[in-house]
Order: sequence, then C-alpha cells, then structure tokens
Amino acid sequence: MASSHNTAPLIARKSGPLKGTATAPGDKSVSHRALILGALAVGKTTISGLLEAEDVLNTAKAVRALGADPVREADGRWHVHGVGVGGFSEPGDVLDFGNSGTGVRLTMGAVATTPITTIFTGDASLRRRPMRRVLEPLALFGTVAETREGGLLPATLKGARQPVPIEHRLQVASAQVKSALILAALNVPGRSTIIERAATRDHTERMLKAFGADIAVEDLGGGESAIAVVGEAELRPTHIDVPSDPSSAAFPLVAALIVPGSEILLPNVMLNPRRIGLITTLLAMGARIDIRNRRNNGGDEIGDLHVQHSALRGVDVPPERAPSMIDEYPVLSVAAAFAEGRTIMRGLEELRVKESDRLSAVAAGLAANGVRFEERPDGLTVEGAGADGIAGGGTVQTHMDHRIAMSFLTMGLAARASVTVDDGSMIATSFPNFRALMSALGSHIEAGR
Ligand code: S3P
Repeated sequence: MASSHNTAPLIARKSGPLKGTATAPGDKSVSHRALILGALAVGKTTISGLLEAEDVLNTAKAVRALGADPVREADGRWHVHGVGVGGFSEPGDVLDFGNSGTGVRLTMGAVATTPITTIFTGDASLRRRPMRRVLEPLALFGTVAETREGGLLPATLKGARQPVPIEHRLQVASAQVKSALILAALNVPGRSTIIERAATRDHTERMLKAFGADIAVEDLGGGESAIAVVGEAELRPTHIDVPSDPSSAAFPLVAALIVPGSEILLPNVMLNPRRIGLITTLLAMGARIDIRNRRNNGGDEIGDLHVQHSALRGVDVPPERAPSMIDEYPVLSVAAAFAEGRTIMRGLEELRVKESDRLSAVAAGLAANGVRFEERPDGLTVEGAGADGIAGGGTVQTHMDHRIAMSFLTMGLAARASVTVDDGSMIATSFPNFRALMSALGSHIEAGR
C-alpha cells in the first residue's frame, strides 16, 4: 500500500566535536532530471554520483514503466537507454512516486504531450500535496487530467495528441512546475515560452542545453526570466556527473556550526547560485564556512566547504532569497535557535505545501524543545538562545517529512537534553546514509523507542 510505512523513532544526543571529511550524497534535483532526460534522449546516457535514495529510485522505476531502460552498473553509476522525445509508451500500471513531489510533477510534464494515458499516485504525504499548480498549465498544451477532489493524487493524465505551443507566466515560484512545462514543451511543434517571476533552481534548463535542446533563457530584469523551448526536440545523450546535494550537506554543515569544537570538510558540494541561499544566510550570521577549490562541473559550480564551530547571530533573511534556500528553512531555524538574537524569515508560504506543512512542523518542533518563536501565515521568527541555550528534551512529529527529521536530529547534537523524532524512516527518501555519515563525524544518533 502506498500509504503505510513502518515508523522508526530516532534520538540525537549532545555530541563531542564533529571532525573529519564527509561527502554528502548526490543532488536529488539533478538525479531526477538525469534519469528523465536520459529517458527522453535517443541512445545511452551515463550518470555518475546518482542519488540512490527512494525518491530517485521511484523515478527510475517510472521511466522504466514508460519504456526507457535505466540500469545500475555500480554504486551511483547508472546508464539509461532513452526512447527519444515523444517515445514513451503507456505504462501497464499506476506509477507510484512514493514521497516525491519532484518525481511526480516532472514526470507529469514529460508525458503530457505524448498520446498515452498515465496514472499517478504516491504515499500519504504526496497524496495531500497540490497538483493543480502543474495540471492547470499543462492543460494549455491540450493535456487532460482527472484528480481526486481538490486536485489531489491519484491523478490520470491523457497526453495531448496534437499539442499546441504555449506562452505562460508561472503563478507559483516552483522549479517543479517550471520544469514540468519545459519537459512537456519538448514534444510540441514550435516554440513555447515559460515566464518565471522568481529565480528558482535551473537544473532542467542547464541540463537540457547539455543534451543539445534548443532552449534559451532571457533575463527580463527584476528576477523575471523567459524560457523559450523549441519542440520536437532531439536530445543527444551525454554524461551527467552529479555533485553533492547542498540541501543534504546542510545538515552536517549546521551540525558543525552548532557543536562546539567542530571542524569538518564537505567536498564536491553543488554551488549553483540558485541553491546557495543557506550558505549566504549562514555567512551573514557569522558562520565560519570557507569555500575551497571552487571549480566547474559540467556547467555548474561546485566546491569544498570547510566548516568550523561558530558564534552565530540572528539575521533578517530577505524574502527574495526564499527560492534559493526553500528546502533549508527547517535547518536554518535550528541554526537560528543557537544564535544570539532574533532571526526573521519571510516569504515562506510555499513551505506549507512541501512533504509536510513545514512551517507548522518546525514551529511544533521548536516549541517541543524550548525554543521561543513566532509563526506567521508566511513566515517564522526564531528567538536565538545562544550556543548553550537550547533545552531540548522534546519529541518532534516529522509528518512523513525527511527534512523535519534531519533538522531536529541536528538540533539534538547541541541541545542540553536529547531530541527524539517520532519517525526517521523518511530520511531514506533523500539521504539514506545520513546516520552513518553523521556518526563517522562523531555525532550520537541512535534508534529510539
Ligand atoms: C525541486 C523544487 C522545489 C524543492 C524540491 C525540489 C526540484 O520544489 O522544494 O525539493 O527539484 O525542482 P518546488 O518546485 O515545489 O518549489
């Protein structure tokens, strides 16, 4: 059943200095896209460093069900024989994307302009998340969709038989919606234009260029850009080398900042400008993060992060920065709790529709551990209590959200009393070796009861 899973409580205790080198797993966004674009290319795409976590493995299964042939060769090394744009065949069963909004929404785009019928579902968390944001603009191409009441999964998509090009201005700041429309446009004769009002992650655009697509991005000023895609594309297979996920590296990074005496190195972290809002914010808070060995990796910047325990101070995080750190607010809230002074976070309405309502989940977790805060409809203010100021001792409800689990386990490493999360099983969706990696650095995270 898509809905049931065995919950596994975890406990994090105050830990000694964190030391050593830890390579965070491959970037989740890039991994999904490598499989999907590989499936849409003609011939064999090779991938190294693929994130082998539940979310991405569900995307691999989906592209297989659509007729492509993803093959695991060794740890993180995969290849995909693609079927070409427009070459997907109708899956014989429902596609189950588990916990992954990215997997389901990107795949909806990828099938939307091919005349096949595809049925989508996911776990209890994913079945609560909004799908109209992607299905409504896909309808402009001629795609027909049916959902449960409220635009919820399961959903059935009938791909457009004679799709028409679109010009569409995105209504939400969402890389998933943008990417779905770009992927759909690949099989439409003529030029489609998608206008985004805020700069969200651009991995789809960058990777499509590497696959030889005719895609152009025009900066319209004020954070807006127009993405023009010429359809009936023929994608040339390529090699994708997936760097470490900055959204996963964020947990050992913040852990090292708040555990006294820590000094760690996080190699090969993706530093795409649209993903590094957390690093920018932590630097403004006084974090000792040294970015070493900046280099180019297949069109994206990467680098090694040297991180030392730091005396943090609260900051006002500008709302325009939200898209570049959208998944990092839970762990930023933890860093903010250990800072001196107040951290104000605004423009966070999208956090309410992630794997959980992350604003209320963070607020409840802070409350359970003695942190003072104010929750607003679209924001959060955390009153920092300083380096040794967090009581801990609470149990946090993770609501099937991997990032809530990892954020509060990070808190437990520096709080006075241990922090428990009710369910760590969802960590496997994005960071299967989280406990092993954190333990190797010296942190105490154990199975709870
Ligand atoms: C992602 C986009 C973001 C992010 C998610 C990954 C992507 O979601 O939260 O973890 O890979 O495109 P939204 O597009 O809904 O903001």
